[in-house]
Amino acid sequence: MRGALPGHDRGLSGAGRRTTAKPFMARWPLRGGASCRILAPPLMNADSPPPDPAVPDDLPLAWNDPDGTRFLVRPIAPGDFERVRTFQDELSFGTRYFRFGRGDFRYADEQLRGLCSPDPAQREHLVALAGEEGAEQPMAGSARYIVSDDGQEGEFTIVVLDRWQGHGLGRRLMRALIALARRRGLQRLHGQILGSNRRMLEFVARLGFALEPESRGQPIRRVSLALRR
Ligand SMILES: CC(C)(COP(=O)(O)OP(=O)(O)OC[C@H]1O[C@@H](n2cnc3c(N)ncnc32)[C@H](O)[C@@H]1OP(=O)(O)O)[C@@H](O)C(=O)NCCC(=O)NCCS
Repeated sequence: MRGALPGHDRGLSGAGRRTTAKPFMARWPLRGGASCRILAPPLMNADSPPPDPAVPDDLPLAWNDPDGTRFLVRPIAPGDFERVRTFQDELSFGTRYFRFGRGDFRYADEQLRGLCSPDPAQREHLVALAGEEGAEQPMAGSARYIVSDDGQEGEFTIVVLDRWQGHGLGRRLMRALIALARRRGLQRLHGQILGSNRRMLEFVARLGFALEPESRGQPIRRVSLALRR
């Protein structure tokens, strides 16, 4: 999918329906002279991550941060609309840029409603919430995958609110997403990541993702994880 970052939102329009709507297109080359060359993380075997007893994969997943904040990871639900909207509003330009390829990207409300009601045949979507349980519990992170038309693969995306980055949300969200994909019988999870997003590339390499070879002139790197059982 040349020129699109990530094609993850393929077909999102309204209440989770698959349509022929165009994916969101990023403008390449990147504005602002961002460098896309990176020192690639080492290639690793594309295989499921090793078990981590400290991070259970079962949902819902709840734990306390050392700073006392309560976190919860669970599937998204239709009642999350306001949460998701606030979450979107609070993402910084830089985080938005790494996630969408455009620092000014925003979903329309109708698309946000669609995100909150995923068709499980097409996508799985997890959210991380921070703070005490209740209607006001704000959203801190999001991770999801969209299933390919042949039902064999999932394309993931992930984003954590700037304020909560570095608290282990990304790792738990990714591990839970991988567990869901494996349970569902997907053969592979893959993602499209900006080459300049070194932290993310290193992070998924540590989870066992292989970095596919760089295509000439292409700022997006594809990472992929075989889900062997
Ligand atoms: C990449 C991202 C999802 C990570 O989320 P997070 O909640 O900060 O991740 P975690 O706290 O679980 O840390 C994940 C790893 O990054 C490392 N890390 C955390 N903060 C870091 C920092 N500031 N610099 C470098 N590495 C860091 C952690 O040590 C951890 O390593 P480990 O897996 O070996 O333990 C988050 O930074 C983000 O939302 N980035 C913008 C969106 C994006 O790039 N999405 C990817 C495209 S789909």
